[in-house]
Amino acid sequence: MSHGPRTTSAFGVWIAALLALPASATSAYVNVDIDSGDLLSAKLQGLPSNLAKLFAPESSNSPVVNASRCKVYPGDAEWPSDKAWSTLNKLSDDRLLSPTPQASACYEGPNYDPEKCEAMTATWGRSYSHMHDPIEMMSPVAQGMTCLPPNVFDSHNCTRGGFPLYVINATKPEHVQLGVNFARNTGVRLVVKNTGHDFLGKSGGKDALSIWTHWFKDIDYLEEYTDEKLGYSGPAFKAGVGVQAFEIYKAAHEKGRAVVGGEGETVGIFGGYIQGGGHSPLTSLYGTGADQVLSFEVVTADGKFVTANSTSYPDLFWAMRGGGGSTFGVATSVTVKAHPDMPTTASRFSFTSEKIGNETFWAGIRSYVDYFIPNADAGTYAYFVLIPNVWTGIFTFQMSPFFAPNKTLEQTQALLQPWFTQLNELGIQFDPNITHFDSYYEAWRSSFPLEVVQKVNATTGSRMFPRANFETEEKREELYQNLRQSSENNRVQVHFNIKAVDPANADNAVNPAWRPNILFAQQAVRWPVNASNEEILKIRQEFQTGDMQRWRDISPGAGSYLAEADRLEPNFGQAFWGDKYPRLLELKQKWDPKDVFFATTSVGSERWRVESPGNLPNENGKLCRVDQ
Ligand SMILES: Cc1cc2nc3c(=O)[nH]c(=O)nc-3n(C[C@H](O)[C@H](O)[C@H](O)COP(=O)(O)OP(=O)(O)OC[C@H]3O[C@@H](n4cnc5c(N)ncnc54)[C@H](O)[C@@H]3O)c2cc1C
Ligand SMILES: *[C@@H]1O[C@H](CO)[C@@H](O)[C@H](O)[C@H]1NC(C)=O
Ligand SMILES: *[C@@H]1O[C@H](CO)[C@@H](O)[C@H](O)[C@H]1NC(C)=O
Ligand SMILES: *[C@@H]1O[C@H](CO)[C@@H](O)[C@H](O)[C@H]1NC(C)=O
Ligand SMILES: *[C@@H]1O[C@H](CO)[C@@H](O)[C@H](O)[C@H]1NC(C)=O
Ligand SMILES: *[C@@H]1O[C@H](CO)[C@@H](O)[C@H](O)[C@H]1NC(C)=O
Ligand SMILES: *[C@@H]1O[C@H](CO)[C@@H](O)[C@H](O)[C@H]1NC(C)=O
Ligand SMILES: *[C@@H]1O[C@H](CO)[C@@H](O)[C@H](O)[C@H]1NC(C)=O
Ligand SMILES: *[C@@H]1O[C@H](CO)[C@@H](O)[C@H](O)[C@H]1NC(C)=O
Ligand SMILES: *[C@@H]1O[C@H](CO)[C@@H](O)[C@H](O)[C@H]1NC(C)=O
Repeated sequence: MSHGPRTTSAFGVWIAALLALPASATSAYVNVDIDSGDLLSAKLQGLPSNLAKLFAPESSNSPVVNASRCKVYPGDAEWPSDKAWSTLNKLSDDRLLSPTPQASACYEGPNYDPEKCEAMTATWGRSYSHMHDPIEMMSPVAQGMTCLPPNVFDSHNCTRGGFPLYVINATKPEHVQLGVNFARNTGVRLVVKNTGHDFLGKSGGKDALSIWTHWFKDIDYLEEYTDEKLGYSGPAFKAGVGVQAFEIYKAAHEKGRAVVGGEGETVGIFGGYIQGGGHSPLTSLYGTGADQVLSFEVVTADGKFVTANSTSYPDLFWAMRGGGGSTFGVATSVTVKAHPDMPTTASRFSFTSEKIGNETFWAGIRSYVDYFIPNADAGTYAYFVLIPNVWTGIFTFQMSPFFAPNKTLEQTQALLQPWFTQLNELGIQFDPNITHFDSYYEAWRSSFPLEVVQKVNATTGSRMFPRANFETEEKREELYQNLRQSSENNRVQVHFNIKAVDPANADNAVNPAWRPNILFAQQAVRWPVNASNEEILKIRQEFQTGDMQRWRDISPGAGSYLAEADRLEPNFGQAFWGDKYPRLLELKQKWDPKDVFFATTSVGSERWRVESPGNLPNENGKLCRVDQ
């Protein structure tokens, strides 16, 4: 194994040793019955049958997994043998890792290294510190808080918690097929990890086998891609699913193009982002990320490698454009529309209640709400935050930024001027920096903050407020009062004034609540760092029945965004997919009848539950069926 030094006795020196074992044949050799098109067949030829059956794609004589209540875990009789794991390593080109949490350097044990610990503590909140890590998720709350640098949060101990046990560092579809087949045939829990950005921690799972897609990094520019059914003819990018926002934006800029992706620099926009819908600084012009997809290459639950597009497995194609990651298959590449690059104007500014007092501050926010519809209809994107401070009683508003793709400086100033005039009349002082850039890429690079990740005592809930919430004076007042109430209840709010109308009117699984969206709103609940499990659960439940319920009550039938949401979102099928949920459930049954894939709050996930300590909503427990 190529990463022996990362393993420790606490986490399995024995693993390192056994992975080095040759997979020598001990029993009779068989020819495995495999689809002729299967990429694995050559590799599996000649393996002894007891091992070969662990890696074989699904067929009529597939091994029957013991349908016990839980997935298979270390200590279970069915847990794969050392030989089985070493064979998986060998078949996957020695790319099976057994990683330890980074912060094990901070705790007693074989990895203890105080200097390393101190260095990682300083950069722990940066996504760049975690995106090349095979197991680290950016939400420790969803992981289970089991191994963090003590100066960030004292975990007292470094246990594996919600981290997977083994990781395939996949770079080829065959590696993915091996992982999928092995998990399906053995009953071991499977997770898929790309960057780990997901707010709900859907890239982790205690003692699971993880397929790590981060290193599918190819980017191909296709000058001309035509799909008559989708009504698209133009340039496209075919990207590996590990390609991140900063990589594709740069590649697109070099070709004079722009691609729809998130604002966050490091988000894996061809993984969970695009399968979950995905909102973008370009969404008010072009729709969601999923609306851009022309084709996926996918390993399905039966181990086949297929193309899902408008003519090849169109139902899978429909489901994967918005239906969520880790549900229907593991994508290895995505082909998306490439739009023309465009000049862009962006503006940043902020003000606080400190000198002007609460009523004036809130009057400034109230006046802004009147411009949400016209600004979104003009094709702009506004990303702003409202931060309360319980110690000082001061509220802060930050526009970071107001983003106007394809707009000149003058056009952007004209859009903002009516609100700015009102702010001036209220006596609110602010100093907007309005800058024009020649390209989307330069504007994006200069305007967005690198968000802090790894928060230890917060969870975010979200709501998509539709146009109806802004169409009358009365409705705007009601919406404003609800935002203000959340600030007064000490919620940090993050808002996106965007619309996601899809110009091509795509028929896909994207949450229909995106279409009339005008304000995509997030609020975070926080708890004392030393709160007990019972206290945390109570605070989180009261957040759902309180502040989140208020937001739901004023937007009946609307939804929440599956990648930026709370694991406790009630009735998540409706919230994340609206009236598309029944069809998605049918397609889950068709494409993954054995629930090889699972992620919390994913389509069909109601059948399973992570049994975590204290019932906290995290990955630190066995995944078990709820109906047995
Ligand atoms: C700092 C920050 C900024 C963000 N900015 C935005 C934004 O601007 N717009 C926006 O819409 N969202 C944004 N998000 C949310 C982001 O879209 C989600 O976190 C999304 O899940 C990230 O996808 P990922 O593949 O990078 O993450 P991961 O957490 O690795 O994966 C997310 C989910 O997708 C699954 N998955 C990943 N790859 C594959 C694959 N190839 N095949 C099948 N399943 C897969 C995983 O199993 C998991 O369930 C942001 C999040 C953060 C933390
Ligand atoms: C299935 O698992 C259960 C519980 O681990 C065990 O008692 C039973 O013998 C197993 N059955 C088979 C066929 O392996
Ligand atoms: C650390 O974890 C181990 C294994 O779970 C446990 O036996 C031990 O008691 C823990 N130590 C502390 C100090 O919590
Ligand atoms: C994963 O594979 C990539 C590509 O081969 C390699 O650069 C990287 O170092 C590997 N990561 C780990 C942790 O093994
Ligand atoms: C869809 O994929 C199939 C299989 O690769 C291919 O033959 C077909 O041309 C593709 N359809 C479109 C519209 O590109
Ligand atoms: C503003 O409101 C906050 C929270 O409601 C409160 O703590 C603070 O005292 C108020 N400030 C003033 C100046 O009234
Ligand atoms: C961008 O602006 C140009 C020139 O005004 C216009 O032709 C084009 O349609 C605009 N693009 C979009 C996506 O609105
Ligand atoms: C305004 O913003 C631009 C782009 O971010 C930056 O280069 C410039 O220095 C800023 N101007 C001022 C006065 O802060
Ligand atoms: C949450 O944790 C941070 C440090 O990580 C701390 O500054 C903050 O006060 C905590 N919030 C609460 C409500 O305890
Ligand atoms: C958490 O810390 C605060 C202040 O340090 C203290 O008052 C409180 O009792 C602590 N709570 C718990 C559960 O330890």
